[in-house]
Amino acid sequence: MNASVLSGKFVVLGVTGSIAVYKVVELARRLTQAGATVQVVMTPGATQFVQPLTFQALTYRPVEVEMFGTFDDRAAGHVAMGQQADVVVIAPATAHTLARLANGFADDLIGTTVLASHAPLIIAPAMETHMWANPATQENVETLRDRGATIVEPESGELASGLSGQGRLASLEAIGAAIEDALATSSALAGKRIVVTAGPTLEPIDPVRVISNRSSGKMGYAIAAAALRAGADVRLISGPVALRPPAGVRVVRIETAAELHDAVLAALPGAHAVVMAAAVADYRPAAPAYQKLKKREQGDDVTLTLVRNPDVLQAIVAKRDQGTLVVGFKAETGDAVAEASRMLREKGLDLVVANDVTAKGSEFGSDTDEVTFVSADGVEALPLLSKREVARRLVAKITERLAI
Ligand code: CTP
Repeated sequence: MNASVLSGKFVVLGVTGSIAVYKVVELARRLTQAGATVQVVMTPGATQFVQPLTFQALTYRPVEVEMFGTFDDRAAGHVAMGQQADVVVIAPATAHTLARLANGFADDLIGTTVLASHAPLIIAPAMETHMWANPATQENVETLRDRGATIVEPESGELASGLSGQGRLASLEAIGAAIEDALATSSALAGKRIVVTAGPTLEPIDPVRVISNRSSGKMGYAIAAAALRAGADVRLISGPVALRPPAGVRVVRIETAAELHDAVLAALPGAHAVVMAAAVADYRPAAPAYQKLKKREQGDDVTLTLVRNPDVLQAIVAKRDQGTLVVGFKAETGDAVAEASRMLREKGLDLVVANDVTAKGSEFGSDTDEVTFVSADGVEALPLLSKREVARRLVAKITERLAI
């Protein structure tokens, strides 16, 4: 493991009752050898598989099992550990533990530690294959992932039950890489303010009807979550979407492009980067009706006059502080990269994320995207990835650019 990342870090390692506990003994040893202080917390179930003494001997620290144990009792030990942690790792995590964490249970030390912690949370589940595949477990995993936890998925192979399937604890290399990644990125954007816009705009025709688009907001929300995980102060300006904003992000809700424009300009002073993932309507009805339009008054044909909305990107580029990075999105049904290059040049942006919305896996509302980053540095085509991973890579790119 990488000592330059782990040295001096405080790692809380929550160990729960699965046969895979014996593998995690080696993880605790490797983390300690790389210079981390490893505080092991075991559930009583885990101690049935391996004695706390084994972990204690390898981490040189007493292992916590009881809620009110020995850890810094004066400072409320049940929460102090979570507050001091640089990273919290739950490995192996049983189906029961996933359910408890997803529901925020606080009746054992692992539950209180996770609830009290702002540190990155890494969960490596291990269980019998049917338990892993069960919708209840999968929903719990999704809930935890939505809240920002990194799930190091179990591997497929032979299981202790004699069956074969997915459920075996991920390799120590995979868990170690997730820990290193979280530690390396968790403060990469500390002290930086990132403004992210997301979702569609609604342009009223009358008090009941609107013109809108198919944006789900998933990309923008994933970017906000990734920036938050990197330690940024995140302002999310969101159109109406069916998503829960990541906890810790400041949200401003807007409906129209004009409201979005004003909210972005209000958030601009002091922003280090603005990411315009919102699908802003280019046009709005010129004169929305104050009363609901009636068929009997409108007849068979209706003509709506639309007028241009303000170009928010253009306003940002004109008003930004020197050094504020501006990222645009280009969703196209044709040659998205050529359009993105043109947009980069003409609007004076720092980066454009190009996306062909007709490509398989990149449709509106999907959880995946195949995008290309277009900047003055060149064109970087990414493979089909989860929006979460696209967001992580975009935030890494922004971090890189802000460091110059
Ligand atoms: N955008 C904006 N203000 C608008 C419209 C869009 O800032 N009034 C931003 C979007 O948030 C996105 C990018 O501009 O980052 C999209 O670029 P644009 O060229 O407006 O895309 P389309 O509307 O798809 O362009 P066109 O109709 O010209 O193909």
